[in-house]
Amino acid sequence: MRIAVVGSGYVGLVSAACLAEIGHDVISVDTDTAKIAALERGEVPIHEGLLPQLLERHRGNRLAFSSSISSSVREAEAIFITVGTPQAESGEPDLSYVESVASEIASAISEPKLIVEKSTVPVCTCESIRKVLSLHGAPAGRFFVASNPEFLREGTAVTDFLYPNRIVLGVDDDFSAAMLYSIYQPLAQGTYYQKEDAIPSPRTGKDPARLIVTNAKSAELIKHASNAFLAMKISFINMVANVSEAVGADIDQVCAGLGSDPRIGAQFLHAGIGYGGSCFPKDVSAFHSVAMQCGVDFSLLAEVMRVNSQQRRQFVKKVRTALWTLRGKKIGVLGLAFKGGTDDIRESPAIAIIQELVKEGASVCAYDPAAMPKAKEVLLPGIIQYAENEYQAASRRDALLILTEWEQFAALDLQRLHSAMKLPIIIDGRNLYEPSRMAAAGFLYYSVGRPLQITESMPYLWHGIHLSPQPVTLPVAARGAGVLA
Ligand code: UDX
Ligand code: UDX
Repeated sequence: MRIAVVGSGYVGLVSAACLAEIGHDVISVDTDTAKIAALERGEVPIHEGLLPQLLERHRGNRLAFSSSISSSVREAEAIFITVGTPQAESGEPDLSYVESVASEIASAISEPKLIVEKSTVPVCTCESIRKVLSLHGAPAGRFFVASNPEFLREGTAVTDFLYPNRIVLGVDDDFSAAMLYSIYQPLAQGTYYQKEDAIPSPRTGKDPARLIVTNAKSAELIKHASNAFLAMKISFINMVANVSEAVGADIDQVCAGLGSDPRIGAQFLHAGIGYGGSCFPKDVSAFHSVAMQCGVDFSLLAEVMRVNSQQRRQFVKKVRTALWTLRGKKIGVLGLAFKGGTDDIRESPAIAIIQELVKEGASVCAYDPAAMPKAKEVLLPGIIQYAENEYQAASRRDALLILTEWEQFAALDLQRLHSAMKLPIIIDGRNLYEPSRMAAAGFLYYSVGRPLQITESMPYLWHGIHLSPQPVTLPVAARGAGVLA
């Protein structure tokens, strides 16, 4: 099928490449002409595993690029809308890009076309798109609008698209249903998975993808409810971690107990500095706003957002306690992206925490394997320094913070790190290490929801506390009361 994907960002570009991968002829469209030119030159504007391979494989045959919506729409049978739906000041989603794209699509419709809303949007947006198309002259009976929300995680977006837990089709007419089924048939029937050169499955088994066919409103709600639930799960476990830390329990063991109940599930129970990204923060806020507009006081979501903001402040307080004062302190930071595996810094907790530390007079040197170019647009060099690797970020620093769960940050040479640092203090916002191992390696290791462990090898005098030969768990009152000698 001939498909146009309007919006070549994290979602649109991956969707376009994957639709080409499963056999469609795709035009990836974007108003950012520089981005389109870069894509035509073979550059890949986002850090996303497997995407370069797919673009290389299909660029110039099944995958073309364009900055003209109208010409792309004229050639296509189906048009996917994947433009940004950022959070407005009010907390509501800014749908102006969706509206502007819909109005441009309208003028190019003559043959029957399917318009597919893939961007994450509030419930009833499909209805609004139909109105905009009609208002801008799309001929009645020649356009059909459906919802097909994306469930892509940055860093694994390609395999999330090709090996989805489910494909949700929000259709209100037979034309949309038939078209969307035809588009996803290679996945729904599993024929894609039989191909020699198919992208390998991230899990065992190659069962066909599960199709969930519903109406547009329910599909829109599935998306918002999914993201809101996942965000709620993170805020919940972060609050449990705070209680665990207050009583000297161990959140890892609490989560092992929680996650062993299949009704709860072990995923998304990683306590830390909270969630960020271009989805959870805006989608929880959007869902909360939409509920309020429908007369439903979904205050639970307000609490999910409050807890998430508080978790970042809690972490800065932990850093302040560990270092006693922040002014003039030299702090190393590992991680700028909102999560590991991506270069995306949108709503990144790491960036928010760094900005607070700098405001309190600390000097920060940061390293991130992929996100530094984007971070430099926000945290201008001069506000913070940038390092070439983890050890340079830690060199002669009073403390090292771990703020993004990059796998490589969990496999550092601890001896080399210890000798590089001025003081062996690590404050881990992502719980990447086992506390006893860090204590044995001579670090004062703070983390989230787990007891602080110290051993005799640390040359610190703690008020009134003699260090025992074994790693001890400090009583709550004493924790953080220590003053560095
Ligand atoms: C966005 C939303 O954030 C996400 O919630 C939704 O599910 C999919 O779209 P993302 O791909 O991360 O996700 O957005 P972004 O990376 O900002 O890409 C949007 C692209 O659309 C940009 O490249 C932008 O140039 C383009 N765009 C935006 C247009 O082509 N036309 C417009 O009118 C507006
Ligand atoms: C999310 C959803 O997972 C995806 O289905 C949806 O389509 C888009 O939004 P993404 O935002 O890319 O994907 O990342 P995700 O892996 O969900 O992580 C979101 C944030 O939560 C990150 O900041 C991550 O660090 C944090 N997180 C995740 C936790 O703090 N704890 C966890 O257990 C999991």
